[in-house]
Amino acid sequence: MPKISYVNGRFVPHQDAVVHIEDRGFQFADGIYEVISSIGGKLADEGGHLDRLERSLRELQIDMPVSRDTLGFLMREVLRKNRLRDAAIYIQITRGEAKRDFKFPDPVPVPTLVISAWPFDFDNNPAIKKGIKAVCVPDQRWARRDIKTVALLPQALAKQKAKEAGAQEAWMIDDKGYITEGSSSNAWIVKGDVLQTRLADTDILKGVTRTAIQKVADDLGLQIVEKSFKPADACKADECFGSSATALIAPIVEIDGHKIGSGKPGPITKQIYKEYRAYVDGMRGDPVEWSME
Ligand code: PDD
Repeated sequence: MPKISYVNGRFVPHQDAVVHIEDRGFQFADGIYEVISSIGGKLADEGGHLDRLERSLRELQIDMPVSRDTLGFLMREVLRKNRLRDAAIYIQITRGEAKRDFKFPDPVPVPTLVISAWPFDFDNNPAIKKGIKAVCVPDQRWARRDIKTVALLPQALAKQKAKEAGAQEAWMIDDKGYITEGSSSNAWIVKGDVLQTRLADTDILKGVTRTAIQKVADDLGLQIVEKSFKPADACKADECFGSSATALIAPIVEIDGHKIGSGKPGPITKQIYKEYRAYVDGMRGDPVEWSME
């Protein structure tokens, strides 16, 4: 549990970190968020996450509440005040507080800005060492999944379904039977030395980790194909994995009870994880750029 969090200009004890009931985030899920990992005190792909945060805000016509530099400073302050080096940092920005009305409020309120940091042990994550199980569930989200909004009810329900089935992640299926992505990760399959993941349009969130994997795969001489796939393709693949800021590269060793490959994390997934860690540790040159163009 964090000791100190940031809410609208103040660092407060976590138990007092609250927003008003008229906040548009609470009333309408009218807000966006980002998750950035601090690994050994280094913020992984900070630039890419802030680029995506700015884009999500632009898409919803919400102003940046503070400058990018200030956001960087505030995240580091939250880490410092909680004495954390290995943590998941959550930034949530909503349209702000206004009398309940569906339309955008006029005058425009000051956006709400919340930052918290949760300890996370990246080096001893059993999900990476042993792999995780996934189940497939219908994708019940809205049509703009490219915006990282706080409207996460379908993902919460999907993750609960996974838990009830003894799994840790849910891969969501569109109305044509193709996997879109995980409830909080992008979905990948591996066949030979080819990685396959869905094209990043409005149907999925374009992961910052996904973008970094494109560089990592290039460095390793692995090919990436951006093409939709079905659960049956995943079950026949050599390996499957999910990617996200917190799980990093999480091997998926079972889907809907079907063992994937040997049922253990596969060699390509392990290689990508190792190379990705070298990348976030700053040993593979400059961070990649994230963009929807
Ligand atoms: N989720 N797709 C969805 C639906 C996600 O929620 C996430 C990340 C990703 C991967 O994006 P990135 O690689 O930029 O983290 C893909 C975060 C970790 C979360 O909600 O906790």
